[in-house]
Amino acid sequence: MFLCRLDELPDGDSRGFDPARTGQDTVLVVRQDERVFGWRDACPHHGGTPMAWRKDEYLNAARDRIVCAAHGAQFDVATGICTLGPCLGQRLHSVGLVVDDNEIHIRET
Ligand code: FES
Repeated sequence: MFLCRLDELPDGDSRGFDPARTGQDTVLVVRQDERVFGWRDACPHHGGTPMAWRKDEYLNAARDRIVCAAHGAQFDVATGICTLGPCLGQRLHSVGLVVDDNEIHIRET
């Protein structure tokens, strides 16, 4: 499923998507250099709480951790493991992505 073009997501930025058209973003994507990481926008601390503090804003100031706006949990961008906060050691659920011809897609299973 197509999400966006790679060049629409600047290096070091994040973006939320609503691929299932639920009315709220359920997938977040972070770009680091030419790599993209996809995670469900659902914090493991409280039963899948959406994490953005504002539309498309999922990262800390250093742009190296995903942050949950609810209680400040921080997650490694590449592994999804919580490195700080109330769900320490738990992890985000991965969303498989494919980058093809400058387009980011969710990998079909
Ligand atoms: S719901 Fe995410 S840190 Fe509490």
